[in-house]
Formats: sequence, C-alpha cells, structure tokens
Amino acid sequence: MRIFKNEEKLSPEYVPPRLPHRERELSLLETFFSSHITGQPAVSVRALIVGAVGTGKTALSKLFGSRLEKANSAIRYVHVNCKIHATLSSILKKAVEAVGAPIPVRGLSSEELGGRLMSLLDRKKMLLVIGLDEFDGFLHSDPQGIYTLLRLGEERSGETRISVIAITRNVEILEDMDESLRGMFQAGVIYLEEYSYRQLADIVEFRCSEAFYPGVMTEEAKGLVVDMASERGDARYAVELLWRGGKYAENEGAPRVTPEHIRKAAASIYPSVRREVLTYISRHEKLLLLAAARLLLSSERSRISSSELYQAYRVTCEELGSAPKAYTRFWEHMQRLEDLGLIRIKIESGGSRGRRSFVTLPGIPASIMVREISALLEASERE
Ligand SMILES: Nc1ncnc2c1ncn2[C@@H]1O[C@H](COP(=O)(O)OP(=O)(O)OP(=O)(O)O)[C@@H](O)[C@H]1O
Ligand SMILES: [Mg+2]
Repeated sequence: MRIFKNEEKLSPEYVPPRLPHRERELSLLETFFSSHITGQPAVSVRALIVGAVGTGKTALSKLFGSRLEKANSAIRYVHVNCKIHATLSSILKKAVEAVGAPIPVRGLSSEELGGRLMSLLDRKKMLLVIGLDEFDGFLHSDPQGIYTLLRLGEERSGETRISVIAITRNVEILEDMDESLRGMFQAGVIYLEEYSYRQLADIVEFRCSEAFYPGVMTEEAKGLVVDMASERGDARYAVELLWRGGKYAENEGAPRVTPEHIRKAAASIYPSVRREVLTYISRHEKLLLLAAARLLLSSERSRISSSELYQAYRVTCEELGSAPKAYTRFWEHMQRLEDLGLIRIKIESGGSRGRRSFVTLPGIPASIMVREISALLEASERE
C-alpha cells in the first residue's frame, strides 16, 4: 500500500511554496525590503522575526529569501543557524561562500572576511540578505560581532549591500539588547502569533495534499493532529505527527493513516514523563526546572513569567551553591528544555507591558518534578 506521494515534503528542511496564514507577514517583509525588490539603490534593512516554537519563523524567512532572489537576480539570501555558526567569522564565511568566493576563505580573520565580502558584493553588484536564525546564539556568544556585521559597509560610500533578518523565539530579546542595537531592529519587528485551531486545520490540509496520496490520511486522523497541535499552536508538531503517523501506517502495511497511528506518533515524540531525560540534562537545566516547579507549586498558578522564573532560578542557584548564568544563557537552557518537551514557553500579550513569555509544565505534576530533580541534584552532589 502506498501511503506517501512525496515523503520529502514533510522533512524538516523542506520549505513549502506557500505558507497559509502567514501571507500578511510575508507582505510585511516585502514592505520592509521594497527597495531591494524594485531595484532602487537599496537601503539596509534589519528585520526581526519573533514567535514561539513552530510558528513558522524559519519557513517564513527562507520562503521570503527565495522570493527575493526570484524578484531581483542581484539578491542572494543566505540562511545561517547561529546555534551552529555563533561567531562573526563563521557567519561571514558562510556569506562569502554563498556569494561565490573564487578563493578559499579558510584562515582569514573576520576583518579580512568582511573586506572580502564587501568587495565581492561591490564587484558583482549584489545585495546580500542574511537570515540569522536562532539569533540568541549570536547575541550571546559574539555581541560585538553583531555590530560589526550590521555596520559592514555602512562606513563605505556607495550602496548598502547587506541586510539582516534576525529570528528568535525570545520575545524579550529587544530588552536584552543595548540601546543602539535595539534601535536598529525596533522598526522591523514581526511577531508570529501561535496558530489557532482553524489555521492549523488549513495547514494540515495543505501539507497532507502535498505529501500523501488522496484519501490516505483519514479525516479522523487529520482532526486528531489538529487537536494535538493546536494545544501548542505549533505547526512543527503537526508536521511531525503527520510524517510519523504515515510511517507507522506504512510499516504496518495499512492502507490508510488512522487516529491510532497518530497516537503512536505522539507517544514516540514526547513519551510520558521520562526519567532518563531528566538524568541527561545539564546541572543548570535541572536548577531551572527545579525553580520552575517550586514556583508553580508554591504560587498555585498555572504559569509563571520567564522573568519571575529567572529570579527564582537565581535564588535556587544560590541555595545550591552554583553561580547563576546570565539571562541570555538562561534563555538558551529554557529553549532546550522546551525542545525536550519538559517545559512549554507561551507568548502572551500582557496589556500595556507588551508581549511576555510564560512557562508551564505540561503533563508533569510540579510536585513530582521537584522530587525527581532534587533527588538527582543530591545524587550528583554525593558523586
Ligand atoms: N503557515 C504554514 N503553512 C505550512 N507549513 C507551515 C506553516 N508554518 C510552519 N509550517 C511548517 O511547520 C514546521 C515548523 O516551522 P518552522 O520551522 O518555520 O518553525 P519555527 O518558528 O522556526 O520554530 P522554532 O522556533 O522551533 O525554530 C515546518 O515544517 C514548516 O514548514
Ligand atoms: Mg526555526
């Protein structure tokens, strides 16, 4: 029985040709980059895409990048994951390669790379747009490098040739920046809200039509995917459930994907409380989880803000004799815990205070979390 028409279309690298319910954000990007598209002398653009996990940040930036390249053949879009390329020189290296460096760039300093990049762009009359995904990584490890990158070419006469789209899950990132950096990004912020139930239903429909033979994914199975994903507003979870559900059906030789295949898929993505996950997270991730669980327990609230959690984490660190990490590092730990399914970070509008991020513990009683983590921390103390 054939299940997948094109399995590739559910792979993490694949970027769909359109993004339902992100049309407004795409046209906002077009507005920001209008000078690039019309081929007027370009102004340097700094955009910042912010949104929770699976809201389509990476897909939006990549799709926009490819549309830019189509609209104007002088534009190159290069997408860099700053978790992997966290320093200016490795980002510049990627950029120089994307523009087509004629000579090897190994062993050059970042000044040399910057100069090389600018003269390449000048010579080829090209405009470069760099998507800096997981921008937190860069902000944390090379804050000075960001300035250098943004200012590249600014001191030079002639056209600006480099623009940036920074991408992050951290809604409070502007507050983590110093004033001049904030000033550069402030006017170009795009918030991606979590997808609603209806929106995810459309997304699931579209992704199924690309990946599966007609009728293979039952309506019941689709509905379950939408139910599960809408609890998180997370399209990545939906896509992953579709793919894994399809694989279960394929392996069983089933003619269709049923809700049971989706339930199996869900169980394999986030198996219920995993002690072993708790054992391999780092000490500071444990301290953070412990602080979250304690605060949720004592406050009797369903969620706490990430700034409250940071304070609680500092107290917990002090109590257990560890030096607390800086806020950006703390935020990286939060994202890892979220990726492991141990916490949920939700972005909510906090009225006059703007958007804030809140932390919840999905499906694990805080009391059990406190007990488990405390035991693990004590055990590591004894070692
Ligand atoms: N509007 C949409 N239509 C179709 N597919 C979408 C849409 N939004 C997101 N997706 C798909 O959902 C998955 C997750 O999207 P993406 O990787 O862009 O999320 P993200 O916001 O970058 O998440 P993270 O913070 O984890 O990096 C991808 O497979 C993407 O193609
Ligand atoms: Mg992403």
